[in-house]
Amino acid sequence: KSIFKGRDFISLHDFSQDELSCILDVARELKEEQKAGRPHPVLQGKTLGMIFTKSSTRTRVSFEVGMYQLGGHALFLSGRDIQLGRGETIADTARVLSRMVDGIMIRTFSHQEVLDLAEFSSIPIINGLTDLLHPCQVLADLMTIQEHKGRLAGLKLAYIGDGNNMAHSLMYGGAKMGLHVVIASPPGYKPDPVVVAMAQADAKANGGSVEVVDDPLEAVKGADVLYTDVWASMGQEAEAKVRMAAFEGYQINSDVLKRADRSAIVLHCLPAHRGEEITDEVIEGVQSVVFDEAENRLHAQKAIMAVVM
Ligand code: CP
Ligand code: NVA
Repeated sequence: KSIFKGRDFISLHDFSQDELSCILDVARELKEEQKAGRPHPVLQGKTLGMIFTKSSTRTRVSFEVGMYQLGGHALFLSGRDIQLGRGETIADTARVLSRMVDGIMIRTFSHQEVLDLAEFSSIPIINGLTDLLHPCQVLADLMTIQEHKGRLAGLKLAYIGDGNNMAHSLMYGGAKMGLHVVIASPPGYKPDPVVVAMAQADAKANGGSVEVVDDPLEAVKGADVLYTDVWASMGQEAEAKVRMAAFEGYQINSDVLKRADRSAIVLHCLPAHRGEEITDEVIEGVQSVVFDEAENRLHAQKAIMAVVM
């Protein structure tokens, strides 16, 4: 596992299929240890700084609990309370924290800020969500799909909705693991073409495919995995009304679900807006695995921390 030590976890694009498989194996092992009640303090004495300039339930709790279960300690650093919020630079923050903690998890708006933090830090930086990417979530998603479907390569994953951070990381992660990823988004809300092109190149090298379409019904046809996310992400609250109109028809409901494979599973990173991107009936239905998925944030991120720290 030493090939990972000291590395940043900022984008799934930075990791090979073998490396992601290896982290998923570690996640499975750590989950088994935790379920069996066997202590696994592989990060004893280590400390993680967690910078948040956006809200969080899952990310915050899973990193903090995960670090505790690994024998270490996590510090919650709200962007409002640390000097970063009063104008101290990312470069200075990076160098100071590097002298005190063993790793940093950051959730923020600008992806560039995370890249800058990594440039000036001498410790691993873990991306806990930016406007561009959400790699920790997708690692947990891949783990969940593997648990329910027994494999990853060759499966069709249909994502319905905004071409946002979730869509981007699903394309990167899916491409690396040999999935066939189809993104259905309305005009004006398509994923970043640079990310699409990079994911398509990754897919080609790993036996998968990445496609962007308009029609949600075309995307879900025969899909093994259905995925959606909110229509307005954190920071887009002012656009919510306009988006609500633009995304009409881009909903996972029982009619849409019927067109997928009969044994398809439904994922959502949560929090969900029931009645918008997904119906209550589907998210509470038998094909939904959203709470297994949420739990796997804990196991997947413990694996990330264990290997890079
Ligand atoms: N899915 C996810 O990242 O949830 P939080 O915003 O609650 O961390
Ligand atoms: N796209 C959502 C994901 C939340 C986990 C957001 O960025 O707000």
